[in-house]
Amino acid sequence: LKKLFRQHAQSARPLKQGAVLGAGIMGGGIAYTSALRGTPVLMKDIAEKQLELGTSEAAKQLARQVKGGRLTQEKADLVLASIKPQLDYENFDTADVVIEAVVENMKVKHAVLSELEGAVREDTIIASNTSSLRIDDIAVPLKRPENFVGMHFFNPVPVMALVEVIKGAKTSDVAVSTAVGYGLAMGKTPIVVRDCPGFLVNRILTPYLRSFLQLVADGADFVQVDRAMEAFGWPMGPAYLEDVVGMDTGSHVVDVIAAGYANRMPPLAHDALKLMVENKRYGQKNGIGFYRYETDPAGKPK
Ligand code: 3HC
Repeated sequence: LKKLFRQHAQSARPLKQGAVLGAGIMGGGIAYTSALRGTPVLMKDIAEKQLELGTSEAAKQLARQVKGGRLTQEKADLVLASIKPQLDYENFDTADVVIEAVVENMKVKHAVLSELEGAVREDTIIASNTSSLRIDDIAVPLKRPENFVGMHFFNPVPVMALVEVIKGAKTSDVAVSTAVGYGLAMGKTPIVVRDCPGFLVNRILTPYLRSFLQLVADGADFVQVDRAMEAFGWPMGPAYLEDVVGMDTGSHVVDVIAAGYANRMPPLAHDALKLMVENKRYGQKNGIGFYRYETDPAGKPK
């Protein structure tokens, strides 16, 4: 890490103000982590309700830190005050890096990023938290693709150490270094990866999840599979993991990667993730996925 830091520290842009587009699970988690580690952050969403959710989640995490004796109430208040929820682009010209964490839909990303480019400075680095879409494909409508880079975080952002920094064909070294610097400032372990569908982690995770879906289609009980993988030593089994990630996101990632490597991943005859999405069983985010989360969506599954 020290080597990575030295390698990138000189060319990275100074980072005083961060910003996040999208206050969902990922955007909210990124904003909280940035603020906790000392980089204030503007958090924009198009929905007031989502902003409230992002802010209350950060407040909940901070209360947990205070209760655990890791943070004073005074510091927690300062951290929360350094997250600015907003519905517009006010002060986005002060942002050194903006992380886009909107829905995984190419059309939406294109529209949002084109709009964003008009609201930031010419030297602002724009990062996408895409799970699997190629950076070069997302960059198509951008006027300054050299300032565009991938920063793929993992859920739950406050505790997952890894962040994939993705270099597109036109991404400048400064953009890569700045993203690495921001990752390090957030206490993460950044790795720089090449641009391809799924990058590194989801290229490994997707075949695993597809094998799980195949097992379920073959008649396996998903609870037993989860218990087996936990006994094997993994922190959670595949069904619970999909509930944490969100069925809509998970299903989309599997589709994008299967399409990207079609010769290696033929279409699944039975896809439990798609069935769940059709039945609005999105996982922890709406209280029902493979498991039910009756009162506390972040609680243990029933
Ligand atoms: N948000 C914030 N903090 C959380 C949290 C959450 N959702 N869940 C747990 N934590 C914190 C707890 O507060 C606790 O912190 P503390 O020790 O300071 O109090 C710490 O994490 C450990 O919590 P627990 O002992 O309750 O929980 P676990 O031992 O089960 O660990 C975990 C939690 C680290 C999240 C572990 O379950 C894990 O590693 N799960 C795998 C998650 C994973 O694989 N994520 C990747 C998903 S794929 C993805 O995001 C890619 C995308 O592109 C699809």
